[in-house]
Amino acid sequence: MEQRTIYAEWRIGSLQETAQLAARLASKAVPGTVIALDGDLGAGKTTFSQAFAAAIGVPGIVNSPTFTIIKEYEGASMPFYHMDVYRISIEEADELGLDDYFFGSGVTLVEWATLIEELLPANRLELYIEHTGGEERLIRAKGIGEPYADWCDEWDKMGAMA
Ligand SMILES: Nc1ncnc2c1ncn2[C@@H]1O[C@H](COP(=O)(O)OP(=O)(O)OP(=O)(O)O)[C@@H](O)[C@H]1O
Ligand SMILES: [Mg+2]
Repeated sequence: MEQRTIYAEWRIGSLQETAQLAARLASKAVPGTVIALDGDLGAGKTTFSQAFAAAIGVPGIVNSPTFTIIKEYEGASMPFYHMDVYRISIEEADELGLDDYFFGSGVTLVEWATLIEELLPANRLELYIEHTGGEERLIRAKGIGEPYADWCDEWDKMGAMA
C-alpha cells in the first residue's frame, strides 16, 4: 500500500530555534513514534536529539550514541531510544532486533537512518538537517503514513516558525 506522504520545512536561525523545533515535535510523540534523522557529519542530529530528550523530560545527559549504537533512557514521560547506525552494517543492524524499539513503549530517534532504510517502520517522520552557515539550518520533514503525514500537513499549513 502506498503511504500518504507530506512534506514540511523550517529555516532555523539559531541553536535555540533548533531546541524549540525539537520541543514542538516532542509534544507530538507517543509510544511507538519513530523519527529518522539524516544530514551530514555535524549537521545537528545529536543536538536535535538532546533537545528532544530534554523536552520529553529525560533526566541527565544524553550523549551521542555513535559508539553504543543504541541507548535507552528511562525517567521521562515515556522511554527514549536513541540510535546512531553510522558505524554498523545493515546485517548487524538487522540482528539488533530494532522492531522491539520501533514498536515498543517509547519514542525512537535514529541518526543516519537512511543507512538502514529497509529496516525502518513504513510509517515514520524523516528529518533531513542541512547546515546552511553558522547556526543556520534547513530542516526538511517528510511524514510518511499516519500520524506523521498529518503532522507535516499541519506544520506546512502553519508556515515557517514565527
Ligand atoms: N541551529 C543549530 N542546530 C543544531 N546544531 C547547531 C546549530 N547551530 C550550531 N550547532 C552546532 O553544530 C554542531 C552539531 O553537532 P551534532 O553532533 O549535533 O551533529 P550530528 O549531525 O549529530 O553529527 P554526527 O554526524 O557526527 O553524529 C554542534 O556543535 C552544535 O552546537
Ligand atoms: Mg550525532
